[in-house]
Amino acid sequence: MKLLHLDASVLNENSASRVLTAEIVQKLRAKHADLQVTYRDLAADAPAHLSAEILGTRFAPADQWNPLQTAEAALTETLLEEFLGADIVVIGAPMYNFSIPTQLKAWIDRIAQVGRTFRYGENGPVGLAGGKKVIIGSSRGGAYSTSEQMRAMDFQEDYLKVVLGFVGVTDVTIVRAEGLAMGPEARSKSMGDAHQQIGQLLLAA
Ligand SMILES: Cc1cc2nc3c(=O)[nH]c(=O)nc-3n(C[C@H](O)[C@H](O)[C@H](O)COP(=O)(O)O)c2cc1C
Repeated sequence: MKLLHLDASVLNENSASRVLTAEIVQKLRAKHADLQVTYRDLAADAPAHLSAEILGTRFAPADQWNPLQTAEAALTETLLEEFLGADIVVIGAPMYNFSIPTQLKAWIDRIAQVGRTFRYGENGPVGLAGGKKVIIGSSRGGAYSTSEQMRAMDFQEDYLKVVLGFVGVTDVTIVRAEGLAMGPEARSKSMGDAHQQIGQLLLAA
């Protein structure tokens, strides 16, 4: 069984989402002795944002690529293979400015590829990366799950669910710690609830 573990928080040892993903992966390791884990710290080693030069590889044969294009195409292929090959993907996804960190978006821009993770059929898009389980460690300073008004401002969890659904992944579980900036008590309760959710989730898995 293969697991891909992604973190995207730039807060390193102060990060809540890194605590959540580490615990999820540790519990899964204990449960599945054969688990092969690939780890990517997208904050420490972010894929470059797409550019005309990087995307140019899709429009020219490989023997016309320059060294940067060759290296970037190899990285894209590695990221795609890691994602497609994983049975479980654990994603640390903090909310930054109502959405996800740019480093995680840069990873999505590499793996959302026509012909590899989706295609267009007669009735619209068809996801090609189904059959895997995704667990998202979601962290945010405010509380967005408690009212319609706040939910409407959430372009983090909903965005991830949409893009994962687009590539065919429908088995998505969110482990959420929110209200983390709303005082020490709120933070501690929210992290405690998330730890409990992880325990229950993995009992059921
Ligand atoms: C650059 C930046 C932008 C943020 N934007 C938001 C935001 O829009 N809404 C929110 O509730 N919290 C926001 N926060 C707070 C984070 O969501 C919160 O600190 C969370 O714990 C981040 O996850 P992490 O601890 O894993 O880094 C932001 C934090 C940073 C560093």
